[in-house]
Amino acid sequence: SLIPVILAGGKGERFWPLSRKLRPKQFLSLDGSGKSLLQATADRLLPLAGGWENLWVVTASHLADGVKEQLPNLPPENLLVESEGRDTAPAVAWSTLEIARRYGEDAVVGFFPADHWIDDQATFEQTLSAATELATQQEAIVTLGIKPNAPSTGYGYIEQGEPAGSYTGFPAYRVDRFTEKPDRETAETFLASGRFSWNSGMFVFRAGVTLNELRVHAPELMHLLEQQGPSAYPQLPKKSIDYALMEKTQKAYVLPVGFGWDDLGDWTAIERLLKGDKANVELATHVGLDTQGAILYASNTEDVIVTIGLEDVVVVRDGNVTLIVKKDRTQEIKQALSQLRDRP
Ligand code: GDD
Ligand code: MG
Repeated sequence: SLIPVILAGGKGERFWPLSRKLRPKQFLSLDGSGKSLLQATADRLLPLAGGWENLWVVTASHLADGVKEQLPNLPPENLLVESEGRDTAPAVAWSTLEIARRYGEDAVVGFFPADHWIDDQATFEQTLSAATELATQQEAIVTLGIKPNAPSTGYGYIEQGEPAGSYTGFPAYRVDRFTEKPDRETAETFLASGRFSWNSGMFVFRAGVTLNELRVHAPELMHLLEQQGPSAYPQLPKKSIDYALMEKTQKAYVLPVGFGWDDLGDWTAIERLLKGDKANVELATHVGLDTQGAILYASNTEDVIVTIGLEDVVVVRDGNVTLIVKKDRTQEIKQALSQLRDRP
């Protein structure tokens, strides 16, 4: 069986102004279902966990109340609260130590981002069963690889190596190389070679296997955590698990993934989720003259947005903030935010 841990401490800044400090992307409902991304992630993982008692969440202290509110059934002892966000390597290391303590070093742990969209629950569960079997049988840090369709610089790239057997019908491969967020030129080379997949951000392994690998590849982090426990947080190096472990370990495996996946990285993801055959994605009362390819959002859906003669823009109205950005530059919202001293 699998012990799933949801990584729920990120900011999701590229969805600002809908995402705010106390209301990051994982707390939002983006598909009109009424369920937040975090709630949808928990629902998706519950059958694998076999119930709430084996589902874990790790988050930053300013988000802990939000998590409790959104997941009232989560046992309090399964909520790990970081005093401050230090990126995902500390979150994975601390959670894995806690899980090894409760279930033993041979427990198979899975880490899952809180803010992704996944289609096809049945295939998702089958793939995770295969990953669990692989992690049980081998000293493996299992990644799930997504077939890439663009030279995106926002993902980790996994180079597929030798075949490594088949697990409940799913072929697995060794990983020859893991490159986190390459520059555009490198990403283009990777894509053209046909040997790479995108890292989905989900990882499955035996607790003891990854703790040993972290002791080798992230000794400072592990030393501090094992000596001082979570009170070491302010001193922990701020690094993601991708840089701290995945780029370094020789124990990585990849299972190619067959379910639909989207990391909902920025506003244009809304279009992939919701675009029908209309000229615009309208989540507001919208009057548009000669407007195409626009994404329009108002938190108060009765707010009126009027556009004339516009193409490929995102317009978002939330409280006292309005965002207007060209669709191909939504990645730069992070930079704009860093210029706002008190981020509204
Ligand atoms: N608890 C905790 N603490 N969670 C965190 C922290 C932290 O300090 N920082 C981020 N997270 C959570 C986020 O909420 C998200 O659910 C997950 O960890 C991944 O963090 P992101 O910040 O969204 O990572 P990324 O999108 O830049 O890159 C990762 O995901 C890509 C796929 O979406 C990497 O794993 C890439 O290799 C991967 O391709
Ligand atoms: Mg992400």
